[in-house]
Amino acid sequence: MQIITVASFKGGTAKTSVSLNLGAVLAKVHKKRVLLIDFDAQSNLTTGLGFDPDAFDSMAPVLQGTKQLHEVILETETKNLHLVPADTWLERIEVTEQLAQDRYSHERLKGILNRAEYDFIIIDTPPSLCWLTESAMIASSKCLICATPEFYSVKGLYRLGIFIHQIAKRHPVEVLGVLLSFWNERGKSNDAFLNVIEETFPKKILKSKIRRDKVVADASIRGKPICEISRTSRALEDFKKLAREVLRGCKTDLHLKEEESEPEEVEESNQELECTSSL
Ligand SMILES: Nc1ncnc2c1ncn2[C@@H]1O[C@H](COP(=O)(O)OP(=O)(O)OP(=O)(O)O)[C@@H](O)[C@H]1O
Ligand SMILES: [Mg+2]
Repeated sequence: MQIITVASFKGGTAKTSVSLNLGAVLAKVHKKRVLLIDFDAQSNLTTGLGFDPDAFDSMAPVLQGTKQLHEVILETETKNLHLVPADTWLERIEVTEQLAQDRYSHERLKGILNRAEYDFIIIDTPPSLCWLTESAMIASSKCLICATPEFYSVKGLYRLGIFIHQIAKRHPVEVLGVLLSFWNERGKSNDAFLNVIEETFPKKILKSKIRRDKVVADASIRGKPICEISRTSRALEDFKKLAREVLRGCKTDLHLKEEESEPEEVEESNQELECTSSL
C-alpha cells in the first residue's frame, strides 16, 4: 500500500483536482483500489465527487476515537474509488478535547491508515503547513508536491521543503515528485521556474505536467472525475501520464495490471456547463 499526501504551501495549486483525478485514473484505468481522504475543511474534494460535506462524517470522529475508519468511507460512482469526506469539524481538530491532551495526536492518522486495505491512499491537504498537513505527511510513504508556474508558488516550495525535511527525520516519508499544473508549454518563464524548483527539490520535477483545461472545473461542478465525463480531453491525457509516472515512482507492478482500455459509457464533457473557475 502506498499512502500519498498531496500538498503545497500555497493555495490554488490544483491539489484537490490532482488528488481526485489521479485517484480516479488509478482506480478506473489501472484497476487499483484507491481511497481518497479529504483532509481539508474546505471540502472541495468531497463536493468534487458529488457529496454534500454536511451530510456525512469526516475523518474527525475517527481521529477522536468515536468511529472506525470503515464507518466513514463512502463508495463513489467510480469502481474501486472510495472517499473519506471532509467537513468543517476538521478545522482546528487538534484543539478538541480528545486530541489536545495527546502529545502524539499527529501520529493518530498513521495508526488508523496502517490497517486499511488499499493499493493507494491519497490525502488531499489544506494550503498550509498545519496539524492536518503534518499528520498526513507522517502517515504517508510519499508526498506529491503541487506547484504552478508562478513566482509565489515556487517560493512557497522552499518552506514546504524544510517542513518535509523536518518530518522525514523521524518518519519514512519521501518526495514522490513536484507536479506542475496550469502548465503552458510555451510559457516564457518556464525555464526560470523549473530551475528554482530543481534547486529546492533536485531531480524531483515530474515529467508529466497538467495543462490548463476547462474540463477540470466542469468535471468537479458535475461531481465526477474527468475520466467519467471525457474520453479525449488533454487534461485526461495528462492525468493518465501522471498516473503512469506515479506507478513507476512507487515501483508497483504497472505492466502486470495496467489496462489501457478507454473508459466506457462516458458522456462527452460539455457544452452547457460554463467553467466557473476563479482562475
Ligand atoms: N488543469 C486545470 N485546468 C483548468 N482549471 C483547473 C486545473 N486544475 C485545477 N483547476 C481549477 O483551479 C481551481 C483550483 O484548483 P484546486 O481546487 O484543485 O486547487 P487546490 O490547490 O486544491 O486549492 P486550495 O489550496 O484552495 O485547496 C479549481 O477551480 C479547479 O477546478
Ligand atoms: Mg484543495
